[in-house]
Amino acid sequence: MTADQEKQQAALEAVKFIKNNMVVGLGTGSTAKHMILAVGDLVKRGMNLTCVPSSEATQKIALELGIKIVDLHEIDKIDITIDGADECDENFQLIKGGGGALLREKILAWNTKYNIIIADSSKAVKKLGAFKLPIEVIPFATKQILNFLEAENLQPIQRTKDGQPYSTDENNYIIDVDIFKIEDLKALEIKLLKVPGIVETGLFLDTTNLIILGNESGPILKY
Ligand code: 5RP
Repeated sequence: MTADQEKQQAALEAVKFIKNNMVVGLGTGSTAKHMILAVGDLVKRGMNLTCVPSSEATQKIALELGIKIVDLHEIDKIDITIDGADECDENFQLIKGGGGALLREKILAWNTKYNIIIADSSKAVKKLGAFKLPIEVIPFATKQILNFLEAENLQPIQRTKDGQPYSTDENNYIIDVDIFKIEDLKALEIKLLKVPGIVETGLFLDTTNLIILGNESGPILKY
C-alpha cells in the first residue's frame, strides 16, 4: 500500500463518523484532501452538512465540490473536525503545520467537540520531533523571535517559498524549529506562547480524540 493509499483509507474511515446536519471542520493537506473529496460525495448523495475550512486552499477545494462553507463566527461549536498531522505519538500529541495552516487548524480543533486525526502510518512516531515544529510569527517581530529561538537552542529556520518568506493565510511568517531533544513539550508550548509576536505553534497536545492510521490490513483506530 502506498502512503497516499493509506491516507485515503484513513480519510474514508473518518468520514463514517459524519452524520446528517453536522457542522464539520475541514483540515488542510494531502490527507485532508481525500477527506474533503469524500465529504463532497456525502453532500452529493444528499447529506446536509455545514463545513468550516481551515485554510484558503481547503475552502477552494470544498467550494469546487459544492460543499456549504461558513465562517467560524457564523456557528457556535463544530461537531467534528477531520485533519491530518505531520507527526503523532502514543499520547495523542501532534506536530502540525507542515502545510502552514496551523493557526486556523488549532482554532478549529479548540472549538470542536470531536477531533479526528487521519494519517498514513509513517506519521506515527515514538517521539515527536524528527519533523521540525512550525511556529507562526508576526512578520514585525521575526528577527527578534529568531534570536530568541536560537538562544533556546531550537535551531530556527525561517520558512521560505520561491526565495521569499513563506506567508500564511493570516499574512504571518513560519519559523521551523528542532524540538527533538525537548522532553517537556507542555512547558515548551507555554514558554513559546509567552513570547510577543509568536502567534501559535504547531504543537497540538491535548485536542485529539481519535487517530486513524492507514494500514495494509485495514485502518487502525486509536481512541
Ligand atoms: C497543514 C497540516 C497538515 O495536516 C500536515 O502538514 C499533514 O499534511 P499531509 O496530509 O499533506 O501529510 O498540519 O498545516
